[in-house]
Amino acid sequence: MKTIAVVVGSLRKGSLSMKLAKAMEAQAEGRFVFRYVELADLPMYNEDLWENVPASVTALKSAVESADAVLFVTPEYNRSIPPVVKNAIDWGSRPYGKSSWNGKPGGVIGMSPGAIGAATAIAHLRSVLVTLDVVLMGQPEVYFSYRPDTLDADGRFASPDTAAFFETYLKRFDTWIARTMQPKADTQPDND
Ligand code: FNR
Repeated sequence: MKTIAVVVGSLRKGSLSMKLAKAMEAQAEGRFVFRYVELADLPMYNEDLWENVPASVTALKSAVESADAVLFVTPEYNRSIPPVVKNAIDWGSRPYGKSSWNGKPGGVIGMSPGAIGAATAIAHLRSVLVTLDVVLMGQPEVYFSYRPDTLDADGRFASPDTAAFFETYLKRFDTWIARTMQPKADTQPDND
């Protein structure tokens, strides 16, 4: 079974992004293990903190490095990436030459209760992740418009069409990971 480090771009209890991630997790049962990366305890990025590395940073880097792939499920904030997501990406990208993201197969899911499903945030997120050599799956793109009836009482996708769409996504992600997984000891390119 493949392990996925899941970055959910919202800290609030009632997060729709988390509900969407959990519905995907339920559908992926038996194929993927979702490990949710803890973002709430990460301090804002500060280079000085490397002198005494916060446990939350070590946990983030180890969660990403030990996973077979990374999956971002995020809302859009003011047409861009929520700061908790960028902060996690920045911490994971350092120290220089020791990025945790390098070569990881990745997927990005945008979610919004609005009409255009976080498309702009996802465009920004893609551009950041590609710079860090995350090997991003291009298709299917997911700009999900979350509606009150998206999930059933058990937190699963209520509509067969939505379930079928995410089934396609999960199957393609599985194939994508198998195709792009790299040996864990792969060398790092320089990045800044
Ligand atoms: C938003 N929201 C939002 N939605 C959107 O589609 N495009 C946007 O640019 C923004 N901008 C934005 C900025 C800020 C600061 C907040 C708090 C919210 C609405 C957002 O998509 C909505 O609140 C989601 O439900 C947030 O995701 P979670 O917390 O439910 O996962």
